[in-house]
Amino acid sequence: MCGIVGVLGKHEAAPLLVEALKRLEYRGYDSAGIATVNDGKLDRRRAIGKLVNLSDLLVHNPLAGKSGIGHTRWATHGAPSVKNAHPHQAGDVTVVHNGIIENFMELRAELNNNKIKCETDTDTEVVALLAKYYLSQGLSPAESVKKTISRLSGAFALAFLFDGEDDLMLVARRGSPLAIGHGDGEVYIGSDAIAMAHLTSKITYLDEGDFAQLSRKNIQIEDRNGTIVNREEKNIDVSSIAIDKAGYKHFMAKEIAEQPLTLAKTIKNYLDEDAEQIRLPKNDIKLANIDCLTMVACGTAFYAALTAKYWFEKIARIKVEVDVASEFRYREPPVTKETTAIFVSQSGETADTLAALRYMSSQNAKIISVVNVPESSIARESDLVLPLYVGPEIGVASTKAFTAQLTVLALLALKIAKTKNVITEAQYCIYLEELKVIPELINQTLSIESNIQKIAAELVSSQDVIFLGRGAMYPLAMEGALKLKEISYIHAEGYPSGELKHGPIALIDKNVPVVVIAPMDSLFDKSVSNMQEVMARSGKILLISCLKGLDKASQGTWATIVMPTIPEFIAPIIYAVPMQLLAYHTALAKGTDADQPRNLAKSVTVE
Ligand code: M6R
Repeated sequence: MCGIVGVLGKHEAAPLLVEALKRLEYRGYDSAGIATVNDGKLDRRRAIGKLVNLSDLLVHNPLAGKSGIGHTRWATHGAPSVKNAHPHQAGDVTVVHNGIIENFMELRAELNNNKIKCETDTDTEVVALLAKYYLSQGLSPAESVKKTISRLSGAFALAFLFDGEDDLMLVARRGSPLAIGHGDGEVYIGSDAIAMAHLTSKITYLDEGDFAQLSRKNIQIEDRNGTIVNREEKNIDVSSIAIDKAGYKHFMAKEIAEQPLTLAKTIKNYLDEDAEQIRLPKNDIKLANIDCLTMVACGTAFYAALTAKYWFEKIARIKVEVDVASEFRYREPPVTKETTAIFVSQSGETADTLAALRYMSSQNAKIISVVNVPESSIARESDLVLPLYVGPEIGVASTKAFTAQLTVLALLALKIAKTKNVITEAQYCIYLEELKVIPELINQTLSIESNIQKIAAELVSSQDVIFLGRGAMYPLAMEGALKLKEISYIHAEGYPSGELKHGPIALIDKNVPVVVIAPMDSLFDKSVSNMQEVMARSGKILLISCLKGLDKASQGTWATIVMPTIPEFIAPIIYAVPMQLLAYHTALAKGTDADQPRNLAKSVTVE
């Protein structure tokens, strides 16, 4: 999604802005631009494609000035082009925007009626034009911006600079995140703290509806009612948001490889000192009273929720409904008094998930969120926040966040089961011990990477790939397919193994690889039967199982991946790793950009 940065500084702004934008590259974008005020004069540079194009442009056509704003644009309204790239400028105003102005057509018509023409295809341009119009009516910059945002519907984080104003930046947020960074006689803004980590560790997160006037010496924040407020300044551990590849070719490779460490950290944070009991952050949710759960998420986080349904139902004996946020939010499902809802989101900013959360909040449901960014909107609007503790995830394809979401949800299911007294102490202890060996089992699984690389070298020539799984492996089949399609652009679908014969089996021929995820669990024999049905139709099987499973069933398969022996409870977490490696090595073999795949954004802050 679009990224916003800004600086009112003591040094040249352009290099700082480009560095800040680099730190937001992971969000996904297709053009970039910056604007500065130099000796009172606004100027801007914009380029399509990667940031290197903007940097090249700045070498040939530098931009001076110590006050500036910058933007990476993920196109929503209008193709990626220089004309549509931000900052947008109208007269004495320039603006960068993250979000969508939903009523831009009406505003555009109104401007047209006043003989004010739009020159771009974007929704954002109306913001600049409205601000310019209000300035021309004699309003001050702050009054113009306030008047402008009062006219907007939709979601936005906005930052404005003005001609003639070297020491003024105006910012506002509604629906999209925005943070202010504090320097020594300097002030910064960014879509997140990562953007400013090279400049400061002192961060203030703006609240929903906030408007702020920034100068080098003073920051004034008003809440949605126009009341001047103090927002907490936090000291963010900059080392924890260091973003380097640590020698790996891609962030995705690094994030896959660091899972033994990240998950050890996640688990440690949820266990008491003796590592005997599961400890949750302080909250007033009565776990013993929960007898049904609504889980809502998008993409990979949705598959984590779908997997957790198996644990909540089987272990904690709780009824669970799981839905994708973009559908859930418009259904207006009835909510009973005792409903508890769980929202799963790596970024904590996904627009649909946030909207679904707000719907459930408005219905007085108790809100639990499983998030990786504790300062995110979803975290801030929850009754109980369960953090992942895995550090920033930069690769667009979610990997370490997924396994941590699963781990946290497994811990929660176990905690609720214990609180509700629906499992024996002995069974509880067995499950807890199984959770503790996750890091070691992931370590073992990572050692099979070279085998997976060889399989990927063949898989890369496929046009379609089918993933099959049963029980808790079914969501993983969909996650495996999502990983493959998003970074290698190969069409892939995940199905429940038993469902194949109800239609998709028609797709099977010798050219369609079928990935069968079949740990030696209670459903193994059923999975193997479904695999045989595929093989009987010349299907090309990649079987993923442990040695015992492969001994029993690998005859006639095209390829195999040998997994360690894994307890059934935690199998989805460990079996996620070969899905990630398979997608990653297929993308490498194909030469696609695994970290920033085409058309995708890391954090989807538009509907
Ligand atoms: O930040 P979130 O977890 O809410 O993001 C949800 C999805 O956009 C995300 O999981 C997406 O599907 C990933 N690209 C998957 O790898």
